[in-house]
Amino acid sequence: MRGDVIKNTEEYVKAYLGKAESGHNWWHIYRVRNLALYIQRKEERGDLFIIELAALLHDIGDYKTGIEGDGKLIVKDFLKDQKVTGKEISLVLEIMENISFRDSFDSNKKKSVELAIVQDADRLDAMGAIGIARAFNYGGFRGNEIYDPDTPCKEYRTKEEYTSSGSPTINHFYEKLLKLKSMMNTDTAKALAVERHVYMQQFLDYFFREWRLGEDIREK
Ligand code: ADP
Ligand code: NI
Repeated sequence: MRGDVIKNTEEYVKAYLGKAESGHNWWHIYRVRNLALYIQRKEERGDLFIIELAALLHDIGDYKTGIEGDGKLIVKDFLKDQKVTGKEISLVLEIMENISFRDSFDSNKKKSVELAIVQDADRLDAMGAIGIARAFNYGGFRGNEIYDPDTPCKEYRTKEEYTSSGSPTINHFYEKLLKLKSMMNTDTAKALAVERHVYMQQFLDYFFREWRLGEDIREK
């Protein structure tokens, strides 16, 4: 029965995110689900069914997918159809509501283990080589620049400021991606985050080295 719900959810999400921005499409969901299940196994805590459902459904309704829709309503109706219990549905919806980086600005609430794990998995997929690829794809999708030396980085204090930013993608590393390492909830994710963080730092070092080399050559 639960196996069927998971299978049906996979099919549903694949179809729903069919035309999503590539950093937020089915393959992002696939990676987050794999990471979340891995973290659960290592940590030996958290309800597997809730973690898997929430990982599969977490980006339904997120504006970053490029697909409009009231995610919570869509997921609620879908899970009701699947005969998932009311209690389980609320647990999934609560994870969806609190998982995002932008939600961390106005929430000091205590997290469920399941939220902590799915959030770590989602954040890990924003880091490292895949994180770099996703950031530039999303920036391009939004029409943002790769880099502009005249646009300084910002410190966002509210969800609105963060969401409306059209910053160059390089700035996004300083505004968000390099902060993720110290925001991990579980020890398993903290360990995985270290290498991905170092790789992003190296990428930025190379990026600026190449940028400056061009300037130095011209001056000679
Ligand atoms: P969250 O909702 O916590 O931000 P998501 O998984 O929905 O997490 O999406 C985050 C990803 O979207 C980032 O890792 C990055 O790849 C991309 N992204 C979001 N905002 C920007 C931006 N301004 N520039 C580049 N990439 C961005
Ligand atoms: Ni996500």
